[in-house]
Amino acid sequence: MAIHASTADTVTAETPANIALLKYWGKDDGARQWPSNASISMTLTHCRTITTVQANAGDDDVVVLQGERLTRTTAHGIKIFAQLDFLRTMCGFTQKLQITTSNTFPLACGIASSASGMAALTLAALAYWTGLHSWDTLAAAGWTRERIAALARQGSGSACRSLWGGLVHWQRGASPDQQRVYQLEDENYLRLYDIIVTPELATKTVSSSAGHARAHSSPLFALRIAGLQERQRDLLAALALQDVEWLGSLVEQEALEFCQIMSTCAPPLVYASAESLAVMTWLRQGRQRGDFVAYFTVDAGASVHVLCAASAAPDIAAAIRTAFPQHGVIVDRIGSGPRLNGATR
Ligand code: PMV
Repeated sequence: MAIHASTADTVTAETPANIALLKYWGKDDGARQWPSNASISMTLTHCRTITTVQANAGDDDVVVLQGERLTRTTAHGIKIFAQLDFLRTMCGFTQKLQITTSNTFPLACGIASSASGMAALTLAALAYWTGLHSWDTLAAAGWTRERIAALARQGSGSACRSLWGGLVHWQRGASPDQQRVYQLEDENYLRLYDIIVTPELATKTVSSSAGHARAHSSPLFALRIAGLQERQRDLLAALALQDVEWLGSLVEQEALEFCQIMSTCAPPLVYASAESLAVMTWLRQGRQRGDFVAYFTVDAGASVHVLCAASAAPDIAAAIRTAFPQHGVIVDRIGSGPRLNGATR
């Protein structure tokens, strides 16, 4: 991947997607992006959004996503322009921007492009507007990673976790203002891989924002929230022990519960396709036979994320490619987090 040069006139942020081990699903306060529960994620390496910002002399922002100019009324345009307007109002900037953004992975198929996209947009825009083009100069002026994450969260809740590498914890807190996001462990702590299997023609039809709004309508939602403290405690213990098998079984339970909440909300929501289910079944059967140690999770889309230790990843990726030659496969792994003009820190 190219490292983008910093000039006085442009800023480039490269921000990875993340995959939640403990899912954020449902909000208690949508306006302030206060989640109904805490979440824990792993930041990826290769699945990234790359966003370059420069000044725009016109009277509105110009946004080009994957080579296509967005208007304020397209699905992606609505979110991106709203985040720029929010940032300007919150932080007192006025300059209109020209934004070029692209992803290294397919959109809307269950890899969190809203997390990487909103994190990159927020970081690049703030660095541009403030004229502070490095992490150090930003932090020295009070633009800490925590503050940038809190602003990115407004565009997409999960974006706040993409401001760090490694394993990241978004704590709910006792009120919207007491939310906290921080790095639990860096990328060297546990060398986890995420082999992402993307079924053909899998495109998400219902946005995660709409999904969050529906989550509370599931009769299982309150039960889920009641049980999450215990799952979070176990997950943190499994991470502390670096016990991949325990961690994987908790992550799989969590993914299945997440699917149950969606399928029992009104109206029901099903992101997984028949192809996703076939991958999950194949994985469980292979594990039961003792062929490999790997566990699945999902996001709001049809892709299946296969988590495993680094040492097992090449064999598992090869087995997936043999079993599902028709699907896309991205071999990703835990990563060091966002870059601002090429620098991670
Ligand atoms: O950040 P949002 O509003 O797009 O919500 C994403 C929620 C999930 O990706 C489905 C789960 C998570 O915790 O990342």
